[in-house]
Amino acid sequence: MLNIATLLENNKKWAAQRTLEDPDFFERLSQQQSPKFLWIGCSDSRVPANQITGLAPGEVFVHRNVANVVHQTDLNCLSVLQFAVEVLKVEHIVVCGHYGCGGVSAAVDNKRHGMIDNWLRQIRQTASAHEEELCALSDSEKVDRLCELNVVTNVNNVAQSTIVEDAWSRGQELQIHAWIYRLTTGRIKTLQDSRSGQ
Ligand code: CO
Repeated sequence: MLNIATLLENNKKWAAQRTLEDPDFFERLSQQQSPKFLWIGCSDSRVPANQITGLAPGEVFVHRNVANVVHQTDLNCLSVLQFAVEVLKVEHIVVCGHYGCGGVSAAVDNKRHGMIDNWLRQIRQTASAHEEELCALSDSEKVDRLCELNVVTNVNNVAQSTIVEDAWSRGQELQIHAWIYRLTTGRIKTLQDSRSGQ
Protein backbone atom coordinates (compact mmCIF):
# COMPACT_ATOMS: atom_id res chain seq x y z
CA MET A 1 0.00 0.00 0.00
CA LEU A 2 1.32 3.41 -0.96
CA ASN A 3 1.65 5.89 1.84
CA ILE A 4 2.82 9.50 1.81
CA ALA A 5 6.31 8.66 3.09
CA THR A 6 6.81 6.47 0.02
CA LEU A 7 6.53 9.55 -2.20
CA LEU A 8 9.40 11.28 -0.42
CA GLU A 9 11.46 8.11 -0.47
CA ASN A 10 10.79 7.70 -4.21
CA ASN A 11 11.78 11.31 -4.79
CA LYS A 12 15.08 10.81 -3.02
CA LYS A 13 15.88 7.78 -5.15
CA TRP A 14 14.74 9.48 -8.35
CA ALA A 15 16.90 12.57 -7.76
CA ALA A 16 19.91 10.39 -6.93
CA GLN A 17 19.42 8.26 -10.05
CA ARG A 18 19.03 11.33 -12.29
CA THR A 19 22.18 12.87 -10.86
CA LEU A 20 24.04 9.62 -11.38
CA GLU A 21 23.02 9.50 -15.05
CA ASP A 22 23.57 13.19 -15.69
CA PRO A 23 25.45 15.07 -12.95
CA ASP A 24 24.50 18.54 -14.31
CA PHE A 25 20.83 17.71 -14.93
CA PHE A 26 19.25 19.68 -12.07
CA GLU A 27 21.73 22.55 -12.20
CA ARG A 28 21.08 22.99 -15.93
CA LEU A 29 17.28 22.78 -15.57
CA SER A 30 17.29 25.24 -12.69
CA GLN A 31 18.76 27.91 -14.97
CA GLN A 32 15.91 27.90 -17.47
CA GLN A 33 13.12 25.88 -19.03
CA SER A 34 12.67 25.85 -22.79
CA PRO A 35 9.93 23.35 -23.59
CA LYS A 36 8.72 23.19 -27.19
CA PHE A 37 5.33 21.79 -26.20
CA LEU A 38 2.30 22.96 -24.26
CA TRP A 39 0.04 20.13 -23.13
CA ILE A 40 -3.59 20.78 -22.27
CA GLY A 41 -5.03 17.57 -20.89
CA CYS A 42 -7.41 16.00 -18.39
CA SER A 43 -6.59 15.86 -14.67
CA ASP A 44 -7.25 12.12 -14.76
CA SER A 45 -4.39 10.40 -12.91
CA ARG A 46 -4.12 7.82 -15.67
CA VAL A 47 -3.12 10.35 -18.34
CA PRO A 48 0.17 11.90 -17.19
CA ALA A 49 1.58 14.04 -20.01
CA ASN A 50 5.29 13.35 -19.48
CA GLN A 51 5.08 9.60 -19.03
CA ILE A 52 2.80 8.81 -21.98
CA THR A 53 4.89 10.91 -24.38
CA GLY A 54 8.30 9.94 -23.02
CA LEU A 55 9.26 13.50 -22.14
CA ALA A 56 11.71 14.45 -19.41
CA PRO A 57 11.35 17.33 -16.91
CA GLY A 58 11.78 20.61 -18.80
CA GLU A 59 10.37 19.29 -22.08
CA VAL A 60 6.64 19.97 -21.76
CA PHE A 61 4.66 22.80 -20.13
CA VAL A 62 1.47 21.33 -18.71
CA HIS A 63 -2.06 22.51 -17.96
CA ARG A 64 -4.59 19.95 -16.80
CA ASN A 65 -8.17 20.27 -15.65
CA VAL A 66 -11.26 18.10 -15.52
CA ALA A 67 -12.09 17.06 -19.11
CA ASN A 68 -9.35 19.21 -20.74
CA VAL A 69 -11.63 22.19 -21.21
CA VAL A 70 -10.43 25.56 -22.54
CA HIS A 71 -12.85 28.29 -21.50
CA GLN A 72 -12.30 31.72 -23.04
CA THR A 73 -12.84 33.22 -19.57
CA ASP A 74 -10.60 30.88 -17.55
CA LEU A 75 -7.78 33.08 -16.24
CA ASN A 76 -5.80 30.05 -15.15
CA CYS A 77 -5.80 28.39 -18.57
CA LEU A 78 -5.34 31.69 -20.45
CA SER A 79 -2.38 32.62 -18.24
CA VAL A 80 -0.75 29.27 -18.98
CA LEU A 81 -1.46 29.75 -22.69
CA GLN A 82 -0.06 33.27 -22.75
CA PHE A 83 3.11 32.34 -20.88
CA ALA A 84 3.66 29.28 -23.08
CA VAL A 85 3.15 31.16 -26.35
CA GLU A 86 4.63 34.57 -25.61
CA VAL A 87 7.42 33.83 -23.14
CA LEU A 88 8.42 30.19 -23.64
CA LYS A 89 7.53 30.39 -27.34
CA VAL A 90 6.38 26.80 -27.55
CA GLU A 91 6.04 25.52 -31.12
CA HIS A 92 3.23 23.06 -30.47
CA ILE A 93 0.07 23.08 -28.38
CA VAL A 94 -1.49 19.68 -27.80
CA VAL A 95 -5.06 19.36 -26.59
CA CYS A 96 -5.27 15.73 -25.49
CA GLY A 97 -8.49 14.16 -24.27
CA HIS A 98 -9.03 10.53 -23.38
CA TYR A 99 -11.71 7.93 -24.03
CA GLY A 100 -13.78 7.03 -20.99
CA CYS A 101 -13.38 10.53 -19.52
CA GLY A 102 -15.43 10.82 -16.32
CA GLY A 103 -15.85 14.57 -16.82
CA VAL A 104 -17.29 14.13 -20.31
CA SER A 105 -19.54 11.36 -19.07
CA ALA A 106 -20.75 13.48 -16.14
CA ALA A 107 -21.61 16.32 -18.52
CA VAL A 108 -24.28 14.24 -20.23
CA ASP A 109 -25.58 11.75 -17.65
CA ASN A 110 -28.50 13.98 -16.63
CA LYS A 111 -27.52 13.89 -12.95
CA ARG A 112 -26.47 16.72 -10.64
CA HIS A 113 -22.79 16.62 -9.57
CA GLY A 114 -22.53 20.03 -7.91
CA MET A 115 -20.34 22.95 -8.88
CA ILE A 116 -18.59 20.97 -11.58
CA ASP A 117 -21.75 20.96 -13.70
CA ASN A 118 -20.95 24.62 -14.44
CA TRP A 119 -17.42 23.70 -15.47
CA LEU A 120 -18.76 20.96 -17.77
CA ARG A 121 -21.53 23.05 -19.36
CA GLN A 122 -19.55 23.64 -22.53
CA ILE A 123 -19.42 19.86 -23.09
CA ARG A 124 -23.23 19.72 -22.88
CA GLN A 125 -23.33 22.40 -25.56
CA THR A 126 -20.98 20.38 -27.75
CA ALA A 127 -23.28 17.36 -27.24
CA SER A 128 -26.33 19.43 -28.23
CA ALA A 129 -24.59 20.71 -31.34
CA HIS A 130 -23.94 17.11 -32.44
CA GLU A 131 -27.16 15.59 -31.10
CA GLU A 132 -28.14 13.85 -34.32
CA GLU A 133 -24.81 12.05 -34.69
CA LEU A 134 -24.63 11.11 -31.00
CA CYS A 135 -28.22 9.81 -30.80
CA ALA A 136 -27.42 7.09 -33.32
CA LEU A 137 -24.71 5.62 -31.04
CA SER A 138 -24.83 3.27 -28.04
CA ASP A 139 -24.22 4.83 -24.61
CA SER A 140 -20.50 3.96 -24.42
CA GLU A 141 -19.90 4.92 -28.06
CA LYS A 142 -21.71 8.18 -27.38
CA VAL A 143 -19.37 9.16 -24.53
CA ASP A 144 -16.29 8.19 -26.53
CA ARG A 145 -17.44 10.19 -29.56
CA LEU A 146 -18.21 13.13 -27.28
CA CYS A 147 -14.68 12.83 -25.84
CA GLU A 148 -13.40 13.33 -29.41
CA LEU A 149 -15.78 16.22 -30.15
CA ASN A 150 -14.76 17.86 -26.88
CA VAL A 151 -11.11 17.84 -27.96
CA VAL A 152 -12.00 19.41 -31.30
CA THR A 153 -14.12 22.09 -29.58
CA ASN A 154 -11.24 22.99 -27.29
CA VAL A 155 -8.71 23.05 -30.11
CA ASN A 156 -11.02 25.60 -31.74
CA ASN A 157 -11.13 27.58 -28.49
CA VAL A 158 -7.32 27.63 -28.34
CA ALA A 159 -7.09 28.64 -32.01
CA GLN A 160 -9.62 31.43 -31.52
CA SER A 161 -7.99 32.84 -28.40
CA THR A 162 -6.48 36.31 -28.79
CA ILE A 163 -3.15 34.84 -27.69
CA VAL A 164 -2.95 32.36 -30.57
CA GLU A 165 -4.55 34.71 -33.12
CA ASP A 166 -1.95 37.35 -32.26
CA ALA A 167 0.91 34.84 -32.41
CA TRP A 168 -0.17 33.72 -35.86
CA SER A 169 -0.59 37.29 -37.10
CA ARG A 170 2.99 38.01 -35.94
CA GLY A 171 4.10 35.02 -38.04
CA GLN A 172 5.08 32.95 -34.99
CA GLU A 173 5.52 29.24 -35.70
CA LEU A 174 2.81 27.54 -33.69
CA GLN A 175 0.86 24.37 -34.39
CA ILE A 176 -2.18 23.07 -32.52
CA HIS A 177 -2.84 19.35 -32.33
CA ALA A 178 -6.03 17.42 -31.47
CA TRP A 179 -5.17 14.13 -29.77
CA ILE A 180 -7.02 11.51 -27.80
CA TYR A 181 -5.58 8.83 -25.52
CA ARG A 182 -7.03 5.36 -25.04
CA LEU A 183 -6.77 4.15 -21.44
CA THR A 184 -7.06 0.50 -22.44
CA THR A 185 -4.09 0.51 -24.84
CA GLY A 186 -1.95 3.46 -23.74
CA ARG A 187 -2.00 4.76 -27.31
CA ILE A 188 -2.64 8.28 -28.58
CA LYS A 189 -4.67 8.89 -31.74
CA THR A 190 -4.62 12.04 -33.87
CA LEU A 191 -8.12 13.41 -34.44
CA GLN A 192 -7.57 15.97 -37.17
CA ASP A 193 -4.80 17.69 -39.10
CA SER A 194 -2.68 20.11 -37.12
CA ARG A 195 -3.71 23.76 -37.23
CA SER A 196 -0.97 26.23 -38.09
CA GLY A 197 -2.72 29.52 -38.80
CA GLN A 198 -1.86 29.58 -42.51
CO1 CO B 1 -10.89 12.79 -18.07
